[in-house]
Amino acid sequence: MNAEAVLKYILSQPQDALVNNPWALYQALDFYGRTSHLMNFKQAKLNVAKKALDSMQPAPKVVLEFGTYTGCSAIAWAAILRDLNGPFAEGLHVYTFELDEDVAAVAQELIRIAGVDDIVHVIVGPAAESLQKLVAEGKVTPKGVDMAFFDHWEKFYLSDLQLCEDLDLFREGSRVIADNTDIPGAPDYLAYVRAGGRGGEGNVKFETNSYESESGIEGRRPNMVEVSTVLAAKP
Ligand SMILES: C[S@@+](CC[C@H](N)C(=O)[O-])C[C@H]1O[C@@H](n2cnc3c(N)ncnc32)[C@H](O)[C@@H]1O
Repeated sequence: MNAEAVLKYILSQPQDALVNNPWALYQALDFYGRTSHLMNFKQAKLNVAKKALDSMQPAPKVVLEFGTYTGCSAIAWAAILRDLNGPFAEGLHVYTFELDEDVAAVAQELIRIAGVDDIVHVIVGPAAESLQKLVAEGKVTPKGVDMAFFDHWEKFYLSDLQLCEDLDLFREGSRVIADNTDIPGAPDYLAYVRAGGRGGEGNVKFETNSYESESGIEGRRPNMVEVSTVLAAKP
């Protein structure tokens, strides 16, 4: 589904209910995704992720998202960060990476309508390069990432996770969530987190759980989401 068509659909809806209402905008996108092929992070999977974030102490403030597309999940992360930290909390950031400039422009517009453009930063370009730049600029700091969400192309999941580790971005308790680990699938990524990470002294250690969620659309797959927790960060 082309991203401009998604924006057109949202703009055709009564705007009063959507403006500055990230949950309403997320629901509208999710509803659209039930009838059109929208590669958004569906409600049932979001519920799994939300549970993992709700149980974090301290509450999460900084999210990295690999794969923006129309901004549907980025809008949801921003809403969750606000709900967990209160409407006036400072230091809430969702850094979301998107390869395609035109798609990123649509996401930016939807994020603006949802009223979370103070929290969500859409960064155009290959995620690995964009992340290294953010760290070099001091915008993302060591042990400063509470959750990383992998939802771009599955072949990059493992190398981008390892990049986060090499940049020392995780703290104990950080969550790492990956979508579509069954189809198309990310077998190297799954094997890695199930083994607990690289192993050995001084490396990040993970525990992990696989969740099968209802896609909300009969017979539609993929529906697996992997939720990992950092048991030990780098010393
Ligand atoms: C499944 S969609 C993301 C869906 C989004 N998270 C949501 O739930 O609304 C995947 C997106 O990742 C982007 N992408 C793929 N590889 C990428 C990379 N290496 N760096 C940045 N973006 C990438 C694609 O252009 C596509 O828009």
